[in-house]
Amino acid sequence: MLDVNASYAYLLWARDFATTSIVATVDDEPGGFVTGYRRPDDPATLMVWQVAVDDRHRGQGLARRMLDALVDRLGAGVSHLETTITADNAASIALFSSFARGRQARLERTPLFEAAMFPDGHDAEHLFRIGPLHA
Ligand SMILES: CC(C)(COP(=O)(O)OP(=O)(O)OC[C@H]1O[C@@H](n2cnc3c(N)ncnc32)[C@H](O)[C@@H]1OP(=O)(O)O)[C@@H](O)C(=O)NCCC(=O)NCCS
Repeated sequence: MLDVNASYAYLLWARDFATTSIVATVDDEPGGFVTGYRRPDDPATLMVWQVAVDDRHRGQGLARRMLDALVDRLGAGVSHLETTITADNAASIALFSSFARGRQARLERTPLFEAAMFPDGHDAEHLFRIGPLHA
């Protein structure tokens, strides 16, 4: 499931992290987005924070194309992609597995944030690290 953040957070993101984020349009309307950032301690790693596609446009390769376009845009400066996923998010797991396969890149899964670390009943988040992206 997608945790919807405050509209202010998205506006701030669009101002400061536009280069590492992308919006897909379908018939001139927003159809999906990816928000990401380059990790301050490791700028060669693109951390993908959220991916969402409007439910009318799911299952058509839109999320996959957004990830590919973003990584292609960033070029050789980014060698790895990371994201976190909850165990129940089959669509997201399939998306990032498909992306890794397409890039012929390794995908490592490790625990990152345990459920007990969240104050609000959130499921555990597993880190997916994919790369190298430009082997
Ligand atoms: C996850 C999400 C972004 C995928 O978007 P999408 O545009 O439908 O995904 P794509 O069409 O690009 O599919 C990519 C791959 O995932 C697979 N896939 C997509 N949805 C799937 C599902 N519900 N179950 C199983 N596999 C799925 C596709 O078959 C495809 O695999 P392939 O390349 O091997 O054929 C979309 O389901 C969504 O917005 N979910 C709600 C928000 C969310 O949970 N985001 C992640 C947390 S931030």
